[in-house]
Amino acid sequence: MRATPKYVVIDPTAGKIDRRIFSEQAIYDDEMAKIFGQAWLMIGHESLVPAVDDFFHTYMGEDPVILTRDGQGRLHALLNMCRHRGNRVCRVDDGNAKRFMCTYHGWTYRNDGALEHVPGESEAYYDALDKPSLGLIEARVETYAGIVFATWAKDAPSLEAYLGDARWYLDTVFNRRDGGMQALGPMKWLEPVNWKTMVDNCSDNYHVPTSHLSSARVQSRYLGRPRLSHEDQFASPNKHAFVNGHSITFRDADDNAPRYMHGVSKDTMRLFQEYHDATMPEIERRLGTLRARRVQLANHSIFPNGILGLRLALPRGPLKTEFWHFVLVDRDMPEELKRVIRIGSQANNGAAGMFEQDDVDNWRQVTEASTSRLGRRHPQDLSMGIGHAGLHPDYPGFVSERYISENNQRLFYRRWEDFMNAESWATIPLDPVEANFEGTATMQG
Ligand code: FES
Ligand SMILES: [Fe+2]
Repeated sequence: MRATPKYVVIDPTAGKIDRRIFSEQAIYDDEMAKIFGQAWLMIGHESLVPAVDDFFHTYMGEDPVILTRDGQGRLHALLNMCRHRGNRVCRVDDGNAKRFMCTYHGWTYRNDGALEHVPGESEAYYDALDKPSLGLIEARVETYAGIVFATWAKDAPSLEAYLGDARWYLDTVFNRRDGGMQALGPMKWLEPVNWKTMVDNCSDNYHVPTSHLSSARVQSRYLGRPRLSHEDQFASPNKHAFVNGHSITFRDADDNAPRYMHGVSKDTMRLFQEYHDATMPEIERRLGTLRARRVQLANHSIFPNGILGLRLALPRGPLKTEFWHFVLVDRDMPEELKRVIRIGSQANNGAAGMFEQDDVDNWRQVTEASTSRLGRRHPQDLSMGIGHAGLHPDYPGFVSERYISENNQRLFYRRWEDFMNAESWATIPLDPVEANFEGTATMQG
């Protein structure tokens, strides 16, 4: 007889979800072990460490990690914890260094993690210290189109299998150009929100005409963007898809128009259109005609906490999240376009972004409601569109019939349960890779 799983937080037939997952410390502690200890985590981008001996300080969940490029050009993700007593061996955000010296007693590590030097190795330790076993703790590292992922789980599947058919969609942004992408940033800030609130929001297009009404009006008036209404959202041909925990929203359009991104306005549209037209033959070669010309990725999340392109939602306790927001641009894009995208992105989704502030207020209140003694007795309702999603002849994953649906959110919390109830990867299901990856683009770019 199978044991009852510890976590059953969503009723998939009624869409009810237990609010305690947004506030309880014990659940959060399990998340750190079961989710952030087992999943592949987005930790940075190769362009942050372009040269040998470059490093970038990042996090896997709450654990500080140094992303390094060693003398041979290989990437490493090293726990920033001296194996002696535990001091951090790196105290800066980034730089270039062959070695990291702990400032407590001076143990010194190479940038591939090996313990190279111990003061008093003969005099104090009688040459009995087992140095090879005392290197920095190292995570597995793999990359997708320059984005660096790491996992603590030795039994995790390959990153390619982990992303699965979600990559079919992700390629349309992250794998467009032969020259790859470049990460600008990050901008970092703290918010009093549970980390899952903004992950689940990546597929919430229901809130847009309500929460962002004033921001959208400003955009219409000053940037010439189309007006936003509930009617348009409900009638939108855009779609949602879900693969392996990753939530995708996308536009299927055959209008030879560039994908919408922050920075597009009536004044800059010509620049975006020219770039679109000039690069389309290359993109069609890399992605095939369907993905190059029609499929345009919109908001999305990569399980567990990678959102909106390259943003990390780093958990800092059940009621606090640190955002690291990067702007990703094509490396070979004209500098003028990079500047327009960077400024547009910050104006909308930066710490002081118009849309960001609307969103954060929602996430803060959803988090707060889960701390209410009375409120938490009553589950969240995620029932929208139950029974109206399935396989699609053209698009990989589990696809919602309508754009406005809570199907991706329900599946995200099911995936959360998969990880929270698993002792190892042996019991975490993976969708098979079945999509037709037309074109020359690969995991490596
Ligand atoms: S704690 Fe690092 S050398 Fe002692
Ligand atoms: Fe929003």
